[in-house]
Amino acid sequence: MWLFNKKSKEAADVSLLHTDIHSHVIPGIDDGAPTMEDSINLVREMYNLGYRRMIVTPHVRFGSFENDTDTFDARLELLEMAADKENLDMEFEIGAEHTIDENFRTLFKEDKLKTFNDGWLLIEFPFTNLPPRWKELIFDLQMAGYKLILAHPERYVSYLSFEKKTIDELKNRDILFQMNITSLGGFYGKNVLKFARYLVEKEYVDILGSDLHNMRHIEYLKQSFRNKDVCNLIESGCLMNNKF
Ligand SMILES: [Fe+2]
Repeated sequence: MWLFNKKSKEAADVSLLHTDIHSHVIPGIDDGAPTMEDSINLVREMYNLGYRRMIVTPHVRFGSFENDTDTFDARLELLEMAADKENLDMEFEIGAEHTIDENFRTLFKEDKLKTFNDGWLLIEFPFTNLPPRWKELIFDLQMAGYKLILAHPERYVSYLSFEKKTIDELKNRDILFQMNITSLGGFYGKNVLKFARYLVEKEYVDILGSDLHNMRHIEYLKQSFRNKDVCNLIESGCLMNNKF
């Protein structure tokens, strides 16, 4: 319970994180930044917060964001050029936020899954239920050499918070948990916050991510960085952000 005792009005030292693992700042590709100008404004804000490296992760989701990962490197280059032009000293890498849906296995078979940092894959579960045959899928992915990061497990509160054994099992299968900073800041509501705190107490949080989409999220991030739980977690030294 030590994590929730300290009161802090100071903002967290974001430079301890150094790297953000989850964001939607490639322009015009998903529900994140619509234009390059928006992207650059978001990157500038991230720089000012203290980040120096961003893993950008456009959605790849059947039915809504059917993005071709073969285009991602070229899209990143455009962002890098635009950031250079603005003298923003931010380092970038591109991955994807792959939703585990009916098309995921096809992408897997076709070698279209977009990894970053030598084989890391950011996966998103559906918000209503565990993916069917998830154990088998995770086994197959890991056997194929993918290293898995589960995006914002606290947001699957509607089912995962009732499946404590499944949570343990996911962790026992060496899946890293990426929590959204703003979940712990309370911006997804009470249930998500409560579940986020449970995961922190269990020491199951490996990475904090912004899941940045727009300027409103920047404001939420700024407020969340003043949250004592967020400060304590960042200062705990338990997070792996700066390893990516
Ligand atoms: Fe996301």
